[in-house]
Amino acid sequence: MNRDVNDSTSPIGVFDSGMGGLTVLRALHERLPAEDIIYFGDTARVPYGTKGEKTVRTFASQDAGLLVDLGVKMVVVACNTASAFALEHLRETMSVPILGVINPGVRTALAGTRGGAVGVIGTSGTIRSGRYQEGLAAGGLEADRILVQECPLFVPLVEEGLMGHAMTKMAVEEYLQPLRDAQVDTLILGCTHYPALKDDIGRFMGPDVTLVDSADALASAAQDRLAELSLLRDDDRREGKLEFYLSDIPWKFQEIGARFLGKPIEEVITVGLDEMEAFVDNND
Ligand code: DGL
Repeated sequence: MNRDVNDSTSPIGVFDSGMGGLTVLRALHERLPAEDIIYFGDTARVPYGTKGEKTVRTFASQDAGLLVDLGVKMVVVACNTASAFALEHLRETMSVPILGVINPGVRTALAGTRGGAVGVIGTSGTIRSGRYQEGLAAGGLEADRILVQECPLFVPLVEEGLMGHAMTKMAVEEYLQPLRDAQVDTLILGCTHYPALKDDIGRFMGPDVTLVDSADALASAAQDRLAELSLLRDDDRREGKLEFYLSDIPWKFQEIGARFLGKPIEEVITVGLDEMEAFVDNND
């Protein structure tokens, strides 16, 4: 593809480990309706949240490589785990601006906290990477005001559509009780899937706790960055085109896709793992 990536008419690329990043695509599309967006979900290799740093970095490089090859003007890393493990590496190796979900979420939380503690929930990889903790500390939050919790069961519960279900209620209580006891006033939903659990989490944490949805924070950061680079496409009358690429078509993919995107996905292009692996990570 020979599109000039400095051209505002080029699409924005978004990737995630699977379908959860469609929450980010949705937020981006709502905020920037004139932009074309290409989404890649690595559904053949999901989950990333349980995998180690090197594996996630390799997968993320291939995902971003595919999008750059498709001519995107910016890559948005919708996956929190990939943002945690691979953002710096992608910035060093890719030819287009790279945006991750962690910093926008951190900034929103720091701006919103009312002097209490800030909680962060995410996959095991995201929490163990320490990136959210570093970001909050760099923003001036003392260590005893940062509380983190891995919530590995949340992703499968959302994928099974169990929002509001008794099993989800149990998992929410189990994971979030320590954060409630510590009286966090702000809770970062540090995973693509967790916005789908906003009601369950909000009910348990109570109305005084602000839930930070990293999808919204990221969409606003993407808008600012594109404007700064004069790459924003802001023709009011234009309805941007959405294209979907997946490395596998999961069972119930239409149902899960509609859950995250808010509408059905009409057409999907499948990219085989052999094609993905051809995007070699030169820095390894
Ligand atoms: N997309 C991942 C994240 O936001 C959640 C799913 C996974 O573990 O791959 O961390």
